[in-house]
Amino acid sequence: MKRFFLGCLALVMLIGTGVASAQSIEKAIKYRQGAFSVMGWHFGAIVDMIKGKRPFDREDFARRAKIMSDVSFIPLEGFVANSFEGSTKSKVEIWANFSDFEAKLKQMQEAATHLSTASLSDDYDATKRAAIKLGKTCKSCHDEYRNK
Ligand code: HEC
Repeated sequence: MKRFFLGCLALVMLIGTGVASAQSIEKAIKYRQGAFSVMGWHFGAIVDMIKGKRPFDREDFARRAKIMSDVSFIPLEGFVANSFEGSTKSKVEIWANFSDFEAKLKQMQEAATHLSTASLSDDYDATKRAAIKLGKTCKSCHDEYRNK
């Protein structure tokens, strides 16, 4: 009886972990996409202000840059092992070159932090340059590690 019970318990635990990992991969994908869509939202507004498509508002710009610098630290945790299948545009190459991928994330974090600091100054040209630099870090990773 005890053996039967332990056997059942082991089976339940096995099924439990199997289901949990499929679910957590899906959740991890949504989590990282959520973080990136927050970044895309605010970067869109920032670019519009620079291009003059939206009035430049220093306070609003700085608020968005601060959000970007905070959120830039969010996606990494969502890139759990081999999560390149399902509703994701992440390329399998991420996991083959993970340290390079992490280095690119770090470049984005540094550029976003720099933009946030610059946006608090009155130096509009420096702020603009910092925004362009940040945009380049997005593109360099997407070109290599994101499917179209
Ligand atoms: C180190 C690599 C890397 C950097 C840097 C990066 N991204 Fe991405 N981004 C990705 C990957 C990979 C995906 C695909 C995520 C997925 O579907 O699993 C993605 C997806 C996105 C998406 C789509 C999210 C969705 O809803 O599916 C947006 C928007 C986005 N990134 C914006 C940005 C912006 C803006 C920046 C720069 C400020 C940036 N990304 C920097 C790798 C990066």
